[in-house]
Amino acid sequence: MSIRPAISTSLASPTLEGAGVHLHRAFGFNQPELFDPFLLFDDFRNDDPDAFAGGFPWHPHRGIETITYVLNGSVDHSDSLGNSGKLNSGDIQWMTAGAGIMHQEMPTGNVKGQMHGFQLWANLPGSLKMTSPRYQDVEGKEIPEITDDDGTIVKVITGEFWGQRGPVDGIAADPLYLDITIPTGCQKSFKVDTYRNTFAYIFEGAGKFVDASSPKGILLEKEVLGKELNIRDMSGNRTLVQFGTGEEIVVRAGPKGLRFLLVAGTPIQEPVAWHGPIVMNTKEELQQAFSDLRNNRFIKPNDH
Ligand code: FE2
Repeated sequence: MSIRPAISTSLASPTLEGAGVHLHRAFGFNQPELFDPFLLFDDFRNDDPDAFAGGFPWHPHRGIETITYVLNGSVDHSDSLGNSGKLNSGDIQWMTAGAGIMHQEMPTGNVKGQMHGFQLWANLPGSLKMTSPRYQDVEGKEIPEITDDDGTIVKVITGEFWGQRGPVDGIAADPLYLDITIPTGCQKSFKVDTYRNTFAYIFEGAGKFVDASSPKGILLEKEVLGKELNIRDMSGNRTLVQFGTGEEIVVRAGPKGLRFLLVAGTPIQEPVAWHGPIVMNTKEELQQAFSDLRNNRFIKPNDH
């Protein structure tokens, strides 16, 4: 079985979003073809409540799906469909904006004031950009968790893995979204369909991704929190790894174990016209979206 090489690595960059929320962006807004069908990935881990208190007040989306995964703290949400609720630690929300939705997302820290979670944006193909919006809220306890003999834990959020199927379904990008924890020193391989674009986001511990041309693995060894890094010297913290083609990913956990998200999706391969929270195929469709917003026609009446 051929091993997918790690073809690029980078650290997520500090970014301001919403009403002054300090987060880290692993990718987004540049070169949307790079991670097609995924457009953006944000890590909103922060230990300072003032850095996220403003949250993400009412804003529109069209033409995409957003996937929020909360690891710590909670996110209160409400939307123009009349949904409202709270995402707690371990919960997932998959929001298909389709033709248009307005929503707000307000994070609250845990008892220590800490917040941790991720938001991924998946593109919709042109044929589904104007589909009816919908939400899938999934509690953490509904997410299948597989523990392998060596103690490796895989949570299957979407897609099928090791005989389990994640609870989020009907997603255009047909994604595989796994939360993987590998114990100290263990080496594991994970099969990913060759046609899928694949990335990993490492957020705890450290390890090495192994491939045929670098059998010793690419370094992922330093335990670093916010320190400057050489790009090849991948930290276990907020590191994005993009994989080339192949049939599996091979990774070995370092002395403190390793936790990362493994995300793969089928490329849509369509033109992208993107402004802020709206992503369409053409400039004209983008202009139409902003005209709809100005003229109060963004939310379609039958969507309520
Ligand atoms: Fe949003």
